[in-house]
Amino acid sequence: MTGQASTTILGIETSCDETAASVVVRDESGRGRIRSNVVRSQLDEHAAFGGVVPELAARAHVEWLDHIIAQAMDEAGLALDEVDAIAATAGPGLIGGVLVGLTTAKALAASLGKPLLAVNHLEGHALTARLTDGVAFPYLMLLVSGGHSQFVLVRGVGDYERWGGTIDDALGEAFDKVAKLLTLGHPGGPAVERIARSGDPQRFKFPRPLLREERLDFSFSGLKTAVRLQAEALAPLTDQDVADIAASFQAAVTDIVVTRSRQALERFKAELPAEPAQLVVAGGVAANQEISAALRAVVAETGARLVLPPIALCTDNGAMIAWAGAERLALGAHDKLEVAARPRWPLDTPDMKVNSDAA
Ligand code: KG4
Ligand code: ZN
Repeated sequence: MTGQASTTILGIETSCDETAASVVVRDESGRGRIRSNVVRSQLDEHAAFGGVVPELAARAHVEWLDHIIAQAMDEAGLALDEVDAIAATAGPGLIGGVLVGLTTAKALAASLGKPLLAVNHLEGHALTARLTDGVAFPYLMLLVSGGHSQFVLVRGVGDYERWGGTIDDALGEAFDKVAKLLTLGHPGGPAVERIARSGDPQRFKFPRPLLREERLDFSFSGLKTAVRLQAEALAPLTDQDVADIAASFQAAVTDIVVTRSRQALERFKAELPAEPAQLVVAGGVAANQEISAALRAVVAETGARLVLPPIALCTDNGAMIAWAGAERLALGAHDKLEVAARPRWPLDTPDMKVNSDAA
């Protein structure tokens, strides 16, 4: 998109357990640059509970958000009145936290007289590869985080088609539950990956649910149950048992993700034969090196392109929200100050479409 002015956006993210703010610039040619990206993880607040406690999360966002925004402005070397718009996650997510971020963004937008952009968190993940790698539309996104596991065809800003998702747990959630079962702590993904390095991935043949079916959906709860039953059968577990279970679980999910990604890329090629096949990975599970290495092998074999943004931008952050806001603003969109926070908000809804007249 040429011929447009450069815009500077403040982005705010508070939908889960990261309090985050970032300043991103979108230049005249549509390229993005991160001026600051401050993330405060609430891991310590939730550690004792083995998962995210929504009420504690909301309180910590209230306590920290002003400081995080001030730090993001400071690191960007800008005053608040120098930004062109304020973007904040308006959903989906834990509603208490979303309200903290969105309300703060509304107050800033109103007091500064700047446009507000109420961003869908999933759109933030979906468009990050354009900020980091300038990826052109269309592309396939595999989002694998603690709350989501889905394939989405990204045709344009606001233009999404969901090709498959999980029918029970998200992939990150499955890692977290297995880690809890093996008393490896929270968040589980990195802990399972670490311990799996000294384990035998072949020792247990865990199920690969739905894998024989053609649909692009995931199911992880049967696998999780199989892991639990195996752990109970072996109890008390030796360190080697724990490592072998972790490695065998990771092998099963890698197999599932790789098989589904291969199918999704085949569908992309069949439905969009004139377009280069591109797979963009987003979400915290993208940090898993066994999974990312296996995905690299799949794209090499299918002749597709794999885009894996830096891990700090795959996990929740404010830059992805600022960038999604910048992309929407460039198309003439902005939101009313009355816009509501939404605990549930799928990407493939008509109201995601950019409609510059509606705002
Ligand atoms: O995207 P994210 O930071 O937060 C949201 O859920 O939105 O993703 C966090 C999830 C957690 O479930 C965590 O266990 C998982 O990503 N995760 C991993 C790894 N690092 C983080 N899962 C597997 N292997 C990892 N190395
Ligand atoms: Zn996320």
